[in-house]
Amino acid sequence: MSSSEATAATQLWATLRAAAESAAEHAYAPYSGFSVGAAALVEDGRIVSGCNVENAAYGVTLCAECGLVSQLHLTGGGRLTHFVCVNGERELIMPCGRCRQLLHENGGPSLVLLTPRGERTMTDVLPDAFGPEDLT
Ligand code: THU
Repeated sequence: MSSSEATAATQLWATLRAAAESAAEHAYAPYSGFSVGAAALVEDGRIVSGCNVENAAYGVTLCAECGLVSQLHLTGGGRLTHFVCVNGERELIMPCGRCRQLLHENGGPSLVLLTPRGERTMTDVLPDAFGPEDLT
């Protein structure tokens, strides 16, 4: 990677982290007390984001990624290329297993995630995934 590419990547992650941090401020998490914000870049340059929304029936809680995917489709669809999620302390966190499946559906194996241990691809974090091609 050239130095200008590295600078662009650093700027992109900073922009996505800021969007995720902003989203986390809107989280509704009265039961866990654990706010989450997620943000992603779409292939056409849009940024989509989401926050977690909990429920008194704990099991129907919506993860931040659910809102992000809904906003993706609501604003025109397309493929996710880069993704990040943070907690209420602005720390990077890993997406849960179910949300990795959501991200795989909408970004595919090449989606890049910024994690607490650095950049990872979707294939790194969800190897041997079940996907749309398994239905054909
Ligand atoms: N949570 C997310 O929003 N996304 C994840 O990927 C991990 C977990 C939320 C769900 C719940 O509201 C809280 O974090 C604690 O599990």
